[in-house]
Amino acid sequence: MHQISISEQVQPHLLRLGGVGGFLFSNFAILFAAPPPLDNGDNLELKRGWLIVFEGIDGTGKSTQCQKMETRMRECGVPVIRLREPTDGVWGQKIRKILSDGRGAVTPKEELTWFIEDRREDVEKNILPALRENKVVLLDRYYYSTAAYQGALGFDPEAICRDNEAFAPVPDLAYLFIVPPEQCLKRIEQSRDGYSSFERLEYLVKVQNIFESFHGPHIRKVDGVSSPDVIHGQLFLEIDELIGLIK
Ligand code: ADP
Ligand code: TYD
Repeated sequence: MHQISISEQVQPHLLRLGGVGGFLFSNFAILFAAPPPLDNGDNLELKRGWLIVFEGIDGTGKSTQCQKMETRMRECGVPVIRLREPTDGVWGQKIRKILSDGRGAVTPKEELTWFIEDRREDVEKNILPALRENKVVLLDRYYYSTAAYQGALGFDPEAICRDNEAFAPVPDLAYLFIVPPEQCLKRIEQSRDGYSSFERLEYLVKVQNIFESFHGPHIRKVDGVSSPDVIHGQLFLEIDELIGLIK
């Protein structure tokens, strides 16, 4: 099957523009153009799988962006799967209990182990199989969350990343959403009843500081204060270019 980039399929006229003007125009067009017609399924064939992760403290807008990206990709006929961690598996259920009831007698080491075991299962059962099927995997939280949240409990974030990378593939793109923690807590308060046991200002400040310390060729800091549509437009533009590279 013909390999095309998302923008080639959606807005073929943009490809002819080129140059800075073309970039600006295509950015504008992607933000404001009407969405493409709905497609019936995965009609694009990718040459490889792509792992794109959405990270940040609670309330930064990760899930909103992950869902928007999934919808947009499906509309473009891209084979895509959206996953999240913690999962709904056995380890994920143990984790959700400490989120709702508090950490209680669970030690930081046990907590760290649960997140890692949950991920090990997710990698084996969901992430690697989808990548082998040349799908785009959109993942709502990954090991940078472990490095930041459990790092804020005193573990070394770099060591956590290294331990995870022994079994978990390094993502092609990792978006780190940054929003002032006070604003995140306000968003959470407005969107649902009550906070989880991790959603405390002092803790989230530490966690966000660790997220902000991450650097790397695949890591992107995202200003999560902009409007959801503007953020989506920026992310889509970059992801389209990345996947378009394999034409
Ligand atoms: P996360 O997955 O990071 O916890 P969500 O995507 O669930 O965050 O968003 C938390 C709340 O903030 C939701 O009510 C959502 O509608 C709102 N929200 C998401 N993105 C933005 C944004 N860019 N600006 C303002 N509010 C947002
Ligand atoms: P969250 O994405 O908020 O899940 P949901 O929206 O389904 O409730 O994740 C739950 C919490 O788990 C969140 O506070 C971040 C925390 N967390 C860690 O502490 N370490 C990790 O490795 C992961 C993946 C999440």
